[in-house]
Amino acid sequence: MTKLKAGFDDGFLWGGAISCSQADGGWKQGGKGTSTQDLRYLDPSWDHEQVELKHHGNPFSREEFEAALADEGTEFYPNRRGIDFYHRYKDDIELFGEMSLKLFRTSICWSRIFPNGDDLEPNREGIEYYRSMFSECHRHGIKVFATILHYDIPVNLVLKYGGWKSRETIEFFVRYAETLFSELGDLVDFWLPFNEFNAGRFAPWDGVCLIPGDEECTSQAVFQCLHHQFVANARVVELCHRMLPGAPIGGMIARFCTYPATCKPEDNMQALQDDQYSNWFYTDIMARGAYPSYMNRYFDRFDIDIKMEDGDEELLAANTIDFLAFSYYFSQVSTTEQGWEKTAGNLVMANKNPYLPTSEWGWQMDPVGLRVTLNQMYDRYGLPLYIAENGLGASDVLNEDGTVHDDYRIDYLRSHIECLKEAVIDGVDVRGYMVWGFIDVVSCGPLTMDKRYGLIYVDYDNGGKGTGERYRKDSFAWYKKCIESNGEDLS
Ligand code: BG6
Repeated sequence: MTKLKAGFDDGFLWGGAISCSQADGGWKQGGKGTSTQDLRYLDPSWDHEQVELKHHGNPFSREEFEAALADEGTEFYPNRRGIDFYHRYKDDIELFGEMSLKLFRTSICWSRIFPNGDDLEPNREGIEYYRSMFSECHRHGIKVFATILHYDIPVNLVLKYGGWKSRETIEFFVRYAETLFSELGDLVDFWLPFNEFNAGRFAPWDGVCLIPGDEECTSQAVFQCLHHQFVANARVVELCHRMLPGAPIGGMIARFCTYPATCKPEDNMQALQDDQYSNWFYTDIMARGAYPSYMNRYFDRFDIDIKMEDGDEELLAANTIDFLAFSYYFSQVSTTEQGWEKTAGNLVMANKNPYLPTSEWGWQMDPVGLRVTLNQMYDRYGLPLYIAENGLGASDVLNEDGTVHDDYRIDYLRSHIECLKEAVIDGVDVRGYMVWGFIDVVSCGPLTMDKRYGLIYVDYDNGGKGTGERYRKDSFAWYKKCIESNGEDLS
């Protein structure tokens, strides 16, 4: 009897993903406190080159941090505006329902639930907001995939405790998660404690709340913060398994698919190490429950000495995740050769692969890399997989008649879904696919609106000017057809 699959299982979850800091807005409303993402600055008059220079130079500085704390305005702080999802979520979820979406991923805003992070009681208004949002999803037959932390911690925790440098932050995170499990446990279908665990190393402010360029932002500090996050993750996994038996809780990384630049053995070795240090380290700890031995050499080389407490290792070992999720946007090559040409990639500058086309933002588009990744991750862990983010950032044009012809996005999604299907036939247990920013949101790296991922266009520009109206792009109807045919009709 053949066990070969022909395509997607019934019940495959076709989804879309956003994050609260990029979408919600609602700055200072409903009892929300200030978060670390509310402090990131963009001058709306900057042109594309200036934005890119800032993003790939020093995306966040100590001066900006100080100035932003003193500034109550929204003009220079896109994440304080988002796409006003805070007020428009009911209409937006109606559109998601029209698209036949099966799974909605968003993050919960810690500073909406605990405005200062260390409050003893949660903010009821924040809890009611999410109860209403998630109930609305279920009313439309959409399951909820909730990220507990997507880069935005209450800034008070940074000011008072040093954020993830301190073990106290672990306790506050556990209290926050416990509140979510008891208040929202009946409405959330999948839990994810941390967005992109490996971001801390590549984007320290986003990942671990260290200001890049600051004296204290060293590799030692980054890995110590990461250790505290691993402990926090294990504590929350334990709590979830205890409080919500059967509720799946997973781990996620930004997956940097890495090929050797040539067949030189040295390049192959380099690719293996880059993969270990950028990808496997994080998933090995969350899925296998221990620090992998290959990191000893890395820690020695960079003089990193992680301080652990008694019981940390046992905690990690006893509380591994139920599924693995990852974002996938591009692939890169590894080489020992100096001066290899670079191009931009998600969170990192990547080595260029001459065989791949790039997006407008320089990201190397590689659908086959998605199939490679799925096979590699499933081979290694045998856990169910979810693609938590995939999509194309492009500068779309809204026509006068309200149409947006984004055939380039349809091509991108189609080619990736075709490779996803190949991976299913390869035998990989992948259960969901989420289009990133499937409604336009503020972009994470550059902080602009003009880098759009959505299947739904949102009429705001980089300075937040516009009607805020939503328009269905051509990709909207295309994805709806894909979902309704369970991935069979990609025409
Ligand atoms: C992921 C983040 O790394 O990449 C998202 O989880 C982000 O928050 C996405 O938006 C795309 O990156 P960008 O910088 O193009 O918005």
